[in-house]
Amino acid sequence: MSDHAVVYAPSAEFIAQANVKGMEGYRELYAAADADPEKFWSEFAASSVDWAEPWTQVLDWSNPPFAKWFVGAKLNVAHNCLDRHLSTSRKDKIAILFEGEPGDSRAITYAELHKLVSRFANVLKGRGLKQGDRAIIYMPMIPEAAVAMLACARLGIIHSVVFGGFSAEALKTRIQDLGAQLVITADGGWRRAKEVKLKPAVDEAVLDCPTIQNVIVYQRTNSGAAMTEGRDHWWHELEAGVSDDCPAEPFDSETPLYVLYTSGTTGKPKGILHTSGGYLTQAMASMKWVFDLKESDIYWCSADIGWVTGHSYVVYGPLASGATVLMYEGTPDTPTFARWWQVIEKYKVTIFYTSPTAIRALIRQGDQFPNAHDLSSLRLLGSVGEPINPAAWEWYYKTIGKSKCPIVDTWWQTETGTIMISPLPGAVPAKPGSGTLPLPGVQAEVVDLKGHPVERGKEGYLIIRKPWPSMLRTLWGDPERFKEAYWSKFPGIYFTGDAARQDEDGYFWVLGRVDDVMNVSGHRLSTMEIESALVRHPAVAEAAVVGKPHEITGQAVCCFVTLKKGDHDVDALGKELRQWVAHEIGAFARPEEIRFTEAMPKTRSGKIMRRLLREIVTSHTVAGDVTTLEDMNVITSLAAAQQDED
Ligand code: WTA
Repeated sequence: MSDHAVVYAPSAEFIAQANVKGMEGYRELYAAADADPEKFWSEFAASSVDWAEPWTQVLDWSNPPFAKWFVGAKLNVAHNCLDRHLSTSRKDKIAILFEGEPGDSRAITYAELHKLVSRFANVLKGRGLKQGDRAIIYMPMIPEAAVAMLACARLGIIHSVVFGGFSAEALKTRIQDLGAQLVITADGGWRRAKEVKLKPAVDEAVLDCPTIQNVIVYQRTNSGAAMTEGRDHWWHELEAGVSDDCPAEPFDSETPLYVLYTSGTTGKPKGILHTSGGYLTQAMASMKWVFDLKESDIYWCSADIGWVTGHSYVVYGPLASGATVLMYEGTPDTPTFARWWQVIEKYKVTIFYTSPTAIRALIRQGDQFPNAHDLSSLRLLGSVGEPINPAAWEWYYKTIGKSKCPIVDTWWQTETGTIMISPLPGAVPAKPGSGTLPLPGVQAEVVDLKGHPVERGKEGYLIIRKPWPSMLRTLWGDPERFKEAYWSKFPGIYFTGDAARQDEDGYFWVLGRVDDVMNVSGHRLSTMEIESALVRHPAVAEAAVVGKPHEITGQAVCCFVTLKKGDHDVDALGKELRQWVAHEIGAFARPEEIRFTEAMPKTRSGKIMRRLLREIVTSHTVAGDVTTLEDMNVITSLAAAQQDED
């Protein structure tokens, strides 16, 4: 497919105004970074980030895979996102434009955001929180979610945002793993014209979390949350009378900024740890190169604050770069499928960054929705989270971008912190479906099992050969798992978990995960996490979960389940198990399908052969090596069942 892919080169007009101009511009930057990465990053860091004290060493890689960037330097991340702008013309520039789902809106300037963050940081101080403490943020998409993150950053408190779609159970395991002292939440948020309550989940979760001393509740929906005396406090009550003045103390460059949990190949989520100086440096670099950010842009990234995209590209990257960021609370379908287009028209959005799943869902609704709105303010589009199929790319390009906006298809991960592979929009011609080329300073390669580069055109494993500033530093509380999960398959080299291919132009085509991680709507889900949830149900004996191709969400969760002996109403149980998973993990993890089976295909050593199950749901036939199969009949009957169903 790549060999004959259509190429979309940026227009002369776009190139003329771009931060990086033309292929030569890209090649020059890439070559400079490649020749001397430390010099390259130190120059970028010195010119973009506001440091309180300089570094004595750019990179310490003496104890791999534990990297330290900008060793000895000091900075405050919140100062970089706020205070530094106040002495410039950005002081009265709008930092956050907010559109609530019910239609309420707010415009918050940098000076006002600075005040909100300083006040809330003083609230946190007043609760006794200090550098190194941990706060969980479980909030709707409202400006206060960013305020909470930045207030933590200001004080050196490590935050961990838990996506509001996670259940009480998932919230609890994250609070416990992190040993958090505080939860910051809201009574609820607005989604699909209904209130989604958050506080009851917090109440349920913290019952088993003795480390939690305080719960701070922002009043968004005003529907009357139950408050536990002594533990729970209303945000607005604590804030009343608090000073606006909260100095931003400089912290070491390697001060932890946040832990973000993501699914791995076991049942237990991984706490990805990001630190300060390197992370902010690379976040700012990608704002400049990939989003081609200009002072006048109105920038909208539709990701929820609960995912890494919401961290790097709603809060830290754009605010440190002085951008005007749009935040929208709700979903694209309420009150109609025109909502996003209406928001773009209303605020004259210039840069729009979203996911292929959202694009595919919107395509299905028809062009009448985008066509009814003036989208002429747009100048750049972006995609993230999963491979974008060429048909969706073309629609995005033509129907939304009116064939004048470059599309940046950005490949990266929670672990990488920032964008690693993407076209620079005024430089690298796009091929729909390809992330194109690595960013300056990123040594991405496709290798075989031995770690040797494969020939162009051949599939292999996507790796990053050298450390980069925004890389994860470790897994919270589990350095051994950090080594094992990312650095052991190819010793000393970062393994992404993705398969990829480079075409004859060196363009990267990311093919998907090679581990037991699924990608549903651009959200990572672990097969093992869902399996462990299923086997906690009293009727379930065994469970095996695989991703099944899905037209809209990319993959859908498909569960094979064997039941304990007894009489079962399988129709009712199927529904119950789907609900069970939603309760154990979150509604976004609800399986598309539960298939009851008599037995699981297993190897002689008793391991469930997920590969075969995956083949059943993807190709509907079983090919490949089945010699280790214990009982071929099981596979044959599973494959037959699939065919019957179709
Ligand atoms: C996948 C999201 C193809 C990939 C920022 C990766 C992509 C995982 C793309 C990380 C893309 C992300 N093209 N695949 N442009 N972007 N992926 O941690 O499999 O939620 O490993 O980070 O999503 O997901 P995560």
